[in-house]
Amino acid sequence: MLNELEVLAKTARTELEQLDSGAALDHWNSKYIGRKGELTQMLRRVSELPKEERPVFGQRANELKRELETAYTAKEAAVKAAELEQSMAESGLDVTLPGRPASPGRLHPSTQTLRRIYRIWAEMGFQVYRSRDVETDEMNFQLLNFPPHHPAREMQDTFYTTNPDVLLRTHTSPGQIRVMRDYCPEPIRVILPGMCYRHEQITARSEIQFHQVEGLAVGRGIRMSDLKGTLINFTSRLYGQGRPVRFRASHFPFTEPSAEMDVQCFLCNGQGCRMCKYTGWLEILGCGMVHPNVLRNGGYDPNIFSGFAFGMGPERITILGHGIEDIRLFWGNDLRFLEQF
Ligand code: DAH
Repeated sequence: MLNELEVLAKTARTELEQLDSGAALDHWNSKYIGRKGELTQMLRRVSELPKEERPVFGQRANELKRELETAYTAKEAAVKAAELEQSMAESGLDVTLPGRPASPGRLHPSTQTLRRIYRIWAEMGFQVYRSRDVETDEMNFQLLNFPPHHPAREMQDTFYTTNPDVLLRTHTSPGQIRVMRDYCPEPIRVILPGMCYRHEQITARSEIQFHQVEGLAVGRGIRMSDLKGTLINFTSRLYGQGRPVRFRASHFPFTEPSAEMDVQCFLCNGQGCRMCKYTGWLEILGCGMVHPNVLRNGGYDPNIFSGFAFGMGPERITILGHGIEDIRLFWGNDLRFLEQF
């Protein structure tokens, strides 16, 4: 029987060497070393032997079985590699590779900030009004109290088209005129978000395109205290209850009086740091009471109606919130920046 065993193992080994497909390997496995394989069966027949021969036989049978198992594993790997090589040569497609995961993508940091701003103003009853990026000189400047050659135009150089007086808007404020003409004589509570453009040197602090979110409320009896209360409410929703704010007198041609609003620096809590340039305050928006000329240009009688307006920059809000050092990162399309949000 020991002899029989040796012969069987030899046959099995020879057969194994000649195999060249996964299917044939499976067949070989069950024929010899599987649960009902010939070698396995023979191992069970150990009881037929006289007692004194059993240990020798058992030991040899186990040895051979292990040898065949090792040979099988090696052969299996070799056959798989050969099959893969052949399929690559035939089609150039490795069907055994795992698929590449699809990247789900994410929202641009400016879009995330814009959506936070929309949500807050929506909660406060302000609708979104979309206005065009391509404007006329009249809308962008003249109807907002910037006559030709007015010095305030200096700060807002833009891109002109070949069509005289057609330009890319420098701010979202011309939307004020459009929404007033659209809604007059109804009261208004809107925000006007969108892209603005300025012909500037691109640096870490200034870009030629950026977002603004304009706000406008027009109605009867709207006062400066409404402007202040509404904007304080907005900042406490954006930056948390109790964050101190201050209004500083300023000048915009389309509002009178005009102000800029600062929040206490949330990095140093007013102590003074690099972000707030050691002032303890961060400027976040411009605002004011709508100028009577602007109300009139929108179709409202300034003796009956009044209103307030404001304008803020979502990129600036994002920069301050995340300590971003360079505004060019926003439109640089660098995934190393974008994937951090
Ligand atoms: N349009 C101004 C700018 O681009 C921002 C602004 C200031 C808008 C005050 C307003 C406002 O509506 O009341 O610099």
